[in-house]
Amino acid sequence: MFVRGFLLALAGAACEKFMANTILVGAQWGDEGKGKIIDVLTETAGVVVRYAGGNNAGHTVIVKGKKTVLHLIPSGILRKNKLCVIGNGVVLDPIGLVSEMEGLKKNGIKITPRNFVLSETAHVVFPYHRELDGARELLKGKNKIGTTKRGIGPAYGDKAARVGLRVNDLIDSAKLRVKLEARIKENNAVLKSLGAKPLSFKQVFAEYNKAGQYLKPFVQNTVVLLHEQIRHGAEVLFEGAQGTFLDIDHGTYPFVTSSNTTAGGACTGSGVPPHRMDRVVGVMKAYTTRVGEGPLPTENAEISDLLHGMGREFGATTGRARRCGWFDSVATRHATMVNGIDDLAITNLDGLDTVENIKVCVAYRHGKTQYDYMPNDAQVLAECVPVYVEFEGWRTPTDKCKTFKQLPKKAQAYLKAIAELTNANLYIASVGPGRDQTIFV
Ligand code: IMP
Ligand code: MG
Repeated sequence: MFVRGFLLALAGAACEKFMANTILVGAQWGDEGKGKIIDVLTETAGVVVRYAGGNNAGHTVIVKGKKTVLHLIPSGILRKNKLCVIGNGVVLDPIGLVSEMEGLKKNGIKITPRNFVLSETAHVVFPYHRELDGARELLKGKNKIGTTKRGIGPAYGDKAARVGLRVNDLIDSAKLRVKLEARIKENNAVLKSLGAKPLSFKQVFAEYNKAGQYLKPFVQNTVVLLHEQIRHGAEVLFEGAQGTFLDIDHGTYPFVTSSNTTAGGACTGSGVPPHRMDRVVGVMKAYTTRVGEGPLPTENAEISDLLHGMGREFGATTGRARRCGWFDSVATRHATMVNGIDDLAITNLDGLDTVENIKVCVAYRHGKTQYDYMPNDAQVLAECVPVYVEFEGWRTPTDKCKTFKQLPKKAQAYLKAIAELTNANLYIASVGPGRDQTIFV
């Protein structure tokens, strides 16, 4: 696709300029460091679009030593003159969004309808979604998913059941009043049956109507807007949230989130068709982490203790300690297949700086069966035993390295090996959270 786009552009084909539209996805279980890579790549992109998930996401970006955690607003907001779009595939908590916008404004970041736009058709997360999320998790007991309790599952559930309210409903007070009252009535009955507290329509309406009016100037038909931008030659970066194995279809179901976090979600979640996408960048850590429950074949106490001891791997949204394990190339190779990953950004290399022997999983064993792909059954995956190869650690700090050549030879070999096992191009290596700790290979 990229080559075709390039040739068309060279040929000056008709009125439509072809630029490199990039989808950026997490190749593991989320928290791969997408926020930082998006921030780096946004230097050249004109438009950044969030296409799935909600404020369950937490993207940490550090600019000039200052840390910002974004949940809904695309990371492009930290750069001047970038158009940031929340697409139709997102579920949007308006209270959370308003507070995120206010927080950024307090830090001197300009947010106006010229640089920030919301889709009319994104679905809205209401308090009953959050309450249901919590109540269902409680009911599941030890079989819980370990959700972020942001109401994401119930909100997408309502969308699929065709009873959700969209941003268009939120910003129209009269519509909101009628639709919300009916939804609260129905959900209160469910909440009561689950032993949770019912909600007051009056209170929820007042709060959400206020947020809706605050957000109204930012609301647009983002599908039309994005197509216009692309026609005029803007480069678009599609900002993935969560990771491949949290995808509702391709992840470790039921221990997943409720949206399509994989590359296909960028099309459905934005209204930009597949043939307008030029490349897919996969972001992965040099090791593996996961928050919440569900199988994680390479989970390992030694590396968990090491990383937590360094103060690393605590969740940006919920503060939970992430589960950690060795790099799993069976998983990342699967991610390359599902997403069509062209280029890789490998993050957190410096997390392995002190490890003597680094393990990499190259296959799974389950009884007599050996897998070189991820089995679909979460139970089978949980029972899989990883087959490892070992790499000698470099045991030198890498966080000051500026070029690939400056990296220790053993670190270079490790990066090349895991990229090759993942079946994609090594494009970026990240050795710390700062913008300047990014090595283009
Ligand atoms: P939910 O998206 O809140 O329903 O949570 C479902 C699963 O996805 C849980 O295991 C969460 O920990 C995980 N999850 C959701 N969002 C993120 C994220 O941004 N990073 C990492 N894990 C996430
Ligand atoms: Mg995160």
